[in-house]
Amino acid sequence: MSAGSNAPPLPDFAEAVRLLRAGELVAFPTETVYGLGADASNPEAVARIFAAKGRPSSHPLIVHLPDAGHLDRWARDIPRPAWELAEAFWPGPLTLILPRAPDVPHAVTGGQETVGVRVPAHPITLGLLRAFARAGGGRRGLCGIAGPSANRFGRISPTDAAHVREELGAAVALVLDGGACEVGIESTILDLSRRDGPPRLLRPGHITPGQIGKVIGEFPELPAGMRAAAVPRVSGSLDGHYAPRTAMRLTASDALLRAVEDASSQGKRCGLLLRGPLEPPAVHALRRLPDAPDGYARGLYAALRELDQAGGDLIFVEAVPPGPDWAAVADRLRRAARGSGKA
Ligand code: TXA
Ligand code: MG
Repeated sequence: MSAGSNAPPLPDFAEAVRLLRAGELVAFPTETVYGLGADASNPEAVARIFAAKGRPSSHPLIVHLPDAGHLDRWARDIPRPAWELAEAFWPGPLTLILPRAPDVPHAVTGGQETVGVRVPAHPITLGLLRAFARAGGGRRGLCGIAGPSANRFGRISPTDAAHVREELGAAVALVLDGGACEVGIESTILDLSRRDGPPRLLRPGHITPGQIGKVIGEFPELPAGMRAAAVPRVSGSLDGHYAPRTAMRLTASDALLRAVEDASSQGKRCGLLLRGPLEPPAVHALRRLPDAPDGYARGLYAALRELDQAGGDLIFVEAVPPGPDWAAVADRLRRAARGSGKA
């Protein structure tokens, strides 16, 4: 490493590549959250992901690619907007759903005819993906790492390496430590697999519908209709998700102090997650996040995890403002509240 550089040295990827090629699990950092990785071309390796997470195997996984040049190995009939979005946002927190190429294992797609792909923006994982490619990748020359968030199914996504070890322990052969995740919530998911109609947003994230619309000249259809889908196309769209074990309540700023006081007077030990300038009451555990969507998202999962581990009876979360800027955070908070309290 050159003198004066602050960037940490990249790890030696040889061991990680060896493990991937042997069908083992390697957890990896991304700009969004940590992923639980396996060689996406190897169905037995992919099955290990589902077993480690306790996730139903009908749920498709995102395949992480070294660069957009690998796209047509994994997908077919790729429409022009997909290339435009890849050019604009990769490496970055945008997942594209496309018709799958014939060689893509059903294990990865949950038996669907589509595949989710993205190029993550983290130097360690890009280094790993490139080393995997140089080593010949996986089977049939396919080079991709299948990776859901590295948490137990339904639980809070991990945003640093210690969270991954807490969640999955010995099920993972290796955890690559890339520090705290920059974005902090999962990638935006856009479905481009339909032949007609506009692209559909399946999961809101850091990349907004407005940014997508600017690049492709068409505003995506928003998630409302998606909830009526018979099969869970996006596990994040199931109601309870990203959830603490402690019961969690989302409460408007002007009702928050009263709600906390009421609960405390009934002998409940309350955790509290604030964002605004509110003067906090005496509580069992307190966290405060920045009152702006990016900073809030970056700290959200670590704060929820800490409040969950504080061992109180209830977590109150100050609700976030309505509107598109907060939509991705609001989505995660709603689902976390709904899935909470099932210790
Ligand atoms: O930011 C992220 O996307 C992180 C990092 C690790 O890349 N990954 C992540 O994976 O959030 P996961 O599995 O926790 O959530 C990915 C979602 C799943 O809910 C899955 O249903 C959806 O993407 N997905 C994957 N392939 C799909 C497909 N072919 N059709 C529809 N949804 C798909
Ligand atoms: Mg997840």
